[in-house]
Amino acid sequence: MVPFIDLKRRYALYKQEIDDVIGRVLKSGWFILGKELEMFEAKFAEYVGARYTVGLNSGTDAIFLALKALGIEHGDEIITVANTATPTVSAIRMAGAVPVFVDIDKEDFTINPELIEKKITLKTRVILPVHLYGYPANMERITEIAQKEKLKVLEDAAQAQGAAYKNKMVGTMGDIGCFSFYPTKNLGAFGDAGAIATNSKEAADAVRQLRNYGEVSKYNNEREGVNSRLDEIQAAILHWGLDKLDAWNEKRKVLAMLYLSELEGLPLILPPHSDKDHDVVWHLFVVRSERRDALKDYLKNRGIETAIHYPKPIFEQTAYKFLCESGNGLPVTTKVMADILSLPLYPEMRQEEVLEVCAAIKSFYSRK
Ligand SMILES: Cc1ncc(COP(=O)(O)O)c(C=O)c1O
Repeated sequence: MVPFIDLKRRYALYKQEIDDVIGRVLKSGWFILGKELEMFEAKFAEYVGARYTVGLNSGTDAIFLALKALGIEHGDEIITVANTATPTVSAIRMAGAVPVFVDIDKEDFTINPELIEKKITLKTRVILPVHLYGYPANMERITEIAQKEKLKVLEDAAQAQGAAYKNKMVGTMGDIGCFSFYPTKNLGAFGDAGAIATNSKEAADAVRQLRNYGEVSKYNNEREGVNSRLDEIQAAILHWGLDKLDAWNEKRKVLAMLYLSELEGLPLILPPHSDKDHDVVWHLFVVRSERRDALKDYLKNRGIETAIHYPKPIFEQTAYKFLCESGNGLPVTTKVMADILSLPLYPEMRQEEVLEVCAAIKSFYSRK
């Protein structure tokens, strides 16, 4: 049996350290908006190289509150992609805005900057690239277009903690970067958590107020806010995990390289890896196969779990059918989503497990 991911392994490996971290918070008797959050925010800001970070309840809220902080209003248009986790779009809708989908690059699955300008209208306010699977989007072209068209850039870096584009950390090149610390992410909490990163004091202050009922100071609400605070236990866990993030990303990379070398030569399209401009963090290892569904079943019958990120474009989801017009003319998105398959990959996965997955894939393709 090779699981897609096994989060029990992390606790088993670091039980004493994790128990100590959680015990420290329990003993302090302070659970919301305290020192742990302050320490994590300072350390995460230093790690990504942003002036400010603000801890939040989830990555979805990070996008939602970032849009609010940028002054997005009902009916404003946000340019993004349709091959993303649904929350990218739920957050846009929560802010009252309208997602406008652009097709993706066929090599790296991120937004194709050359197609952005065609989708800009008088209502467009933001370009929202997603650094999908840990691969950085082409931020140079995106920020160039945004500057020319006077648009804001909001990065969905939920899947890419530690990834860099031209030596700049993802989440720090646009106006605001949004992170999720969902347990399976490269930096994962033991529950829900998220954050924004920004160099703008105004944006950071706005998100800080919005996450706490819109309060500027106690019982003094200057804007309508929500409750989206990152609690002290999760902040302490993330603070602890941040010291390990680079090592965890390195482990992902070693396993990804093993996959790449073992799978070479098979009738699969392998994912792009790091080069001089892209430092990839392998949130997911996604191959493309013309016989995707048969391959998935074959692996399942051998006890190997795989997944599909994502099975259909957002505008084909029942809840978002009303956006289907915006999905017209996205041939690469549609094609890619029909043949992608995510193989197991996480820092605690063993090399023998990668070899087992590869052996099963080779055996699938060796059958007549
Ligand atoms: C690309 C992307 N955006 C946004 C999110 C939302 O993050 P969360 O689950 O923390 O709300 C996720 C995580 O599921 C994601 O993968």
